[in-house]
Amino acid sequence: MTANELRTMYVNFFKERGHKEIASASLLPENDPTVLFTTAGMHPLVPYLLGEKHPGGKRLTDVQKCVRTEDIDEVGDDTHCTFFEMMGNWSLGDYFKQESISMSFDFLTNYLHIPLERLAVTVFEGDELVSADVEAEEIWKSFGLKSDQIFRYGRDNNWWGPAGQTGPCGPDTEIFYDMDKPKCGPNCGPSCKCGKYVEIWNNVFMQFNKEADGTFTELKQKNVDTGMGLERVLTIFNGKTNVYDTELFIPIMQTLEEILEKEGKAIPERDKRIICEHTRAITFILGDPMKISPSNTEQGYILRRLIRRIIRLFKKADINANYLCELSVVIIEQYGLVYPELEENRRVYSGTVTKRI
Ligand code: SER
Repeated sequence: MTANELRTMYVNFFKERGHKEIASASLLPENDPTVLFTTAGMHPLVPYLLGEKHPGGKRLTDVQKCVRTEDIDEVGDDTHCTFFEMMGNWSLGDYFKQESISMSFDFLTNYLHIPLERLAVTVFEGDELVSADVEAEEIWKSFGLKSDQIFRYGRDNNWWGPAGQTGPCGPDTEIFYDMDKPKCGPNCGPSCKCGKYVEIWNNVFMQFNKEADGTFTELKQKNVDTGMGLERVLTIFNGKTNVYDTELFIPIMQTLEEILEKEGKAIPERDKRIICEHTRAITFILGDPMKISPSNTEQGYILRRLIRRIIRLFKKADINANYLCELSVVIIEQYGLVYPELEENRRVYSGTVTKRI
């Protein structure tokens, strides 16, 4: 399956179930000042999750470009990316846990053809503020998941949001793909970083708003916010073990190989992956309609740090950093049809990166 087939399959699945498709918003969250970047599909929807009426109705779906830097040190492993595409569906005060999990299960097993036994899910175990999500657990069981496929975790793992200091949040049920590796120990589970379990989807049941004083108030409308990682699903569906072996990274990895060969240099695989992953991220940030450029503050500072990281790796390899432009063009050409803003902003790359940034 190609990335485009996956995007279309996801959106059509939800359109057929009454969802309105909305466009991917900017990487700069216009509706959520609590975060620097759009880190999930829900950011552009914050006013609607808080009760404002959305012109598209109560059921929405999209593929949203996202940037997350909290896992930056993991980049270079098989699955973590700073830029990624998140496929999502939302219920704004419409369906809740039963229908949400039911649609997810249908999509996972009947459309992505993931065998039941390769699924693992997590549910909120409850704490002094909010009780355990027994309902979600029972729904999963009703679809045939065995007890050893359902893991209960606390607020650290099974509570989503708010993304900033305040905003909509609630318990979630995360869906993992079991890579069929042996367990790394008796406590091995989805929260473990050994690579046996790869998170592919998260269904958040947004019931609360976190206020500035730290308290949680019940939202007037109960929402569902889900996010599925396109890169990871594409990897799994195509029987690959890492995102770099998918069509999304093959062209840029090949171009980097060619550059290295031409220059007679060899660099560690992890460095290659970081260069390519960060190049994709900075290309999308620079290519955003909001015109972000490197600076000392906020989004511009993150962008600058990512570019510096790439340049450092080029320098370590003793290669001219101007090759970054060549790699960036591969991304623009590859993604240009889906994200025309990349082509529109292409002139940003027409200079060189020799000046100090
Ligand atoms: N907001 C949730 C997440 O990012 C679901 O998309 O995991």
